[in-house]
Amino acid sequence: MRAYELRDKTGLDALTLAEREDPVPGREEVLIQMRAAALNYRDKLVLNGLYPIMPLPLIPLSDGVGTVVAVGEHVTRVKPGDRVAAIFDQNWLSGELPEKSLSLGGQTDGVLAQQVVLPQDGVVRVPEHLTDEEAAALPCAAVTAWSALMVRGTLKPGETVLVQGTGGVSLFALQFAHVAGARVIVTSSSDEKLEQARRLGADETVNYQRTPDWDQEALRLTGGKGVDHVVEVGGPATLPRSLNAVRINGHISLIGVLSGSSAEISMHPMLFKQIRLQGIYVGSRSMFEQMNDAIALHKLKPVIDRVFPFEHAPEAFRYLEKGGHVGKVCIRF
Ligand SMILES: NC(=O)c1ccc[n+]([C@@H]2O[C@H](COP(=O)([O-])OP(=O)(O)OC[C@H]3O[C@@H](n4cnc5c(N)ncnc54)[C@H](OP(=O)(O)O)[C@@H]3O)[C@@H](O)[C@H]2O)c1
Repeated sequence: MRAYELRDKTGLDALTLAEREDPVPGREEVLIQMRAAALNYRDKLVLNGLYPIMPLPLIPLSDGVGTVVAVGEHVTRVKPGDRVAAIFDQNWLSGELPEKSLSLGGQTDGVLAQQVVLPQDGVVRVPEHLTDEEAAALPCAAVTAWSALMVRGTLKPGETVLVQGTGGVSLFALQFAHVAGARVIVTSSSDEKLEQARRLGADETVNYQRTPDWDQEALRLTGGKGVDHVVEVGGPATLPRSLNAVRINGHISLIGVLSGSSAEISMHPMLFKQIRLQGIYVGSRSMFEQMNDAIALHKLKPVIDRVFPFEHAPEAFRYLEKGGHVGKVCIRF
């Protein structure tokens, strides 16, 4: 079978299509014929050598869906013919984050391969109404948004959520908040993307290029009170404004590092407003399953921007790099 590998160095130019031996499932493992995969910003970091990874060679990508084609003799959770997605952290099944993480396409081989073997515990069935590409979009971005708002944020109907940008995590956050009955404010660099966000249920939109003080706009839109939740993907460049935009006792999900990973930030708003700052690291398998139930119930459809054939996977990374996408960039096997 064929797989993309980072062999002895990182970098997009180092991504190589290689022949590997067909994998064979062990007693507790399943063999999956991959059908679709999805890219995350994190995979760009992996490729660029900016993410902790296992020694090379490494097969990248955490997110993918496929059909179970063979199972080991002790496998009971799935059967041949089932359509399954890999879970992002193979060690996090339920409860709190385990001490040792095992993320696909980072700490262990990922899913940018025609066939993948995973432990039976490391996969979940996906909602039937989704296409393969839509289902492949779920493991990292959607579970992260679900964990941020529905699990850690305990979002309630009528609350206001501010979502930054129109990338993968942000659009899932918008969709979950909308069906949960929340009011959603979306920021973006592009009016066209904001128009798309409105079609997905955004109640208010702010172009952060034209309105760089979008925190003031969020305060104005909430009558001076501030928003209940911020889905913070920008990092150091946006956190000070998020701290300003959130209400007293409000909640900020610290998710992204789009503008870097360290900053000098005033403690004052956190203390004086008793802000709850919650770091998020994707989520567990049980969160993924709970989210899938909600996606199936509401017939939610992930937003797929563009699909590239497996043979053109490097182009998909280049496309993601440009940042013109709305929602997810996928690969079809
Ligand atoms: N902690 C976790 O578990 C976890 C999980 C998944 C992702 N992440 C992180 O979350 C971030 C987003 O990931 P993703 O996969 O959703 O990325 P993505 O699909 O590449 O989306 C990035 C989008 O963010 C928006 N953006 C960029 N700079 C911004 C800024 N200064 N203010 C507001 N929006 C800005 C842009 O939207 P517009 O074009 O609309 O402006 C851009 O399209 C990344 O840093 C990623 O590493 C973390």
